[in-house]
Amino acid sequence: MTNRYAVILAAGQGTRMKSKLYKVLHPVCGKPMVQHVINQISKLNIDEIVTVVGHGAELVKSQLGDQCRFVLQEEQLGTAHAVLQAKELLEDKEGVTLVVCGDTPLITSETMANLFTHHEETNAKATVLTALADDPAGYGRIIRNEEGLVEKIVEHKDASEEERKINEINTGTYCFDNRALFAALKMVSNDNVQGEYYLPDVIEILKNAGEIVSAYVTGDFSETLGVNDRVALSQAEKIMRKRINEYHMRNGATIIDPDHTYIDADAEIGSDTIIHPGTRISGATKIGSDCVIGPNSEVNNCTIGDGTVIRQSVVCDSEIGSGVAIGPFAHIRPNSQIHDEVKIGNFVEIKKTVFGRGSKASHLSYIGDAEIGSDVNIGCGSITVNYDGKKKHLTKVEDEVFIGCNSNLVAPVTIGKGAYIAAGSTVTKDVPGNALAIARAQQINKENYVEKLKNKQK
Ligand code: UD1
Ligand code: MG
Repeated sequence: MTNRYAVILAAGQGTRMKSKLYKVLHPVCGKPMVQHVINQISKLNIDEIVTVVGHGAELVKSQLGDQCRFVLQEEQLGTAHAVLQAKELLEDKEGVTLVVCGDTPLITSETMANLFTHHEETNAKATVLTALADDPAGYGRIIRNEEGLVEKIVEHKDASEEERKINEINTGTYCFDNRALFAALKMVSNDNVQGEYYLPDVIEILKNAGEIVSAYVTGDFSETLGVNDRVALSQAEKIMRKRINEYHMRNGATIIDPDHTYIDADAEIGSDTIIHPGTRISGATKIGSDCVIGPNSEVNNCTIGDGTVIRQSVVCDSEIGSGVAIGPFAHIRPNSQIHDEVKIGNFVEIKKTVFGRGSKASHLSYIGDAEIGSDVNIGCGSITVNYDGKKKHLTKVEDEVFIGCNSNLVAPVTIGKGAYIAAGSTVTKDVPGNALAIARAQQINKENYVEKLKNKQK
């Protein structure tokens, strides 16, 4: 097989996004656009991937790390100028070079593989990936001659009224004979409406030099959507979301309403897990089998075991075991470890806490900076008093402790194994194992006091 190279164009500012964030770093389903592109390219057998960076170069580099090499385009003079920056790394090489824009996050490795095949089979020096768009506005148009062969590409801004009616568009993805590409790039001029060096002009240059240029038409326009503004960003998000949801459904997860379920690109979901509407699963979340998530829940960056139920709750940056029940209306905040068979009920907030196997906080609690053993029962309304205004302190509750309702555990404090805390206690001292701690005012009953009061009021 001939050598294969890839150049990703990612130096633009993305003016039309009107954003502080550089365009190719805008996430689609939680992952930067350029990362989607490189993930797909990486599935192909490419000898060298070069990304052209410029605006936000350092941020783009740190996103892509060692997945590719980088060249810097100091001034953004156009897509042809961008590719030319890879000259030092690629110019002398024999082989085929794929060029992809960093703002086409939906392009798949299958389509790029087909493009390579078409390019090689037609012996072309350049092959452009095209698509038929319902609304081609903004895209470069493919100009074909009477025999249907590609002549050139005209940018929307440079196109005549007639040319603008053409709905076959340039997707911004191409295969080139590498040497022919770099030779032609030097001949591209910036004599156009935008005063830029256009990569698509290479097609016409090679055609005029008598070389074979060809087009590969993909049947799926949505895959080639170029994201230039926030409207296109939302369209890309919708298409990607559908793709992700269908992947999980084919993998054995049930998604009750895919139109209202938002799953990020890197999430993993086990079979027979049911996802209810209004649920957002984001970050590097891994959900086991037989779980029920949602409705209306947020799960971000969590690992969740099997058979766990999370209803109407927010769960972030935590590890959740198997057979756990969370919610409705619970909040699990970062750095928590919820072990198997735990129950976290309504209006319970957990933060930076290890919650041992089989333990329960069923109603209205705040548990922060705590280590809760196994088989502990935390009664309704009980809280850890973890903050003294300056520092956070640890609460330790050993196995099999029973904490009565409405107790305050003033940290730092340790409740020994098997101890009981009487309801309504404010515990400020450690409690030994198996002890009963009562830390509340003694009750006084004033007999017949009400009658006296009423008489006074008369
Ligand atoms: C480009 C194509 C257009 C095609 C469309 C598909 C050109 C001139 N036009 O238009 O024919 O239909 O993509 O989406 O190529 N970039 C650089 N350096 C630059 C300029 C751009 O790296 O100097 C990068 C951008 O970061 C972006 C990509 O190249 O990722 C495409 O640039 P963009 O400005 O989005 O081009 P379009 O107007 O979309
Ligand atoms: Mg674009």
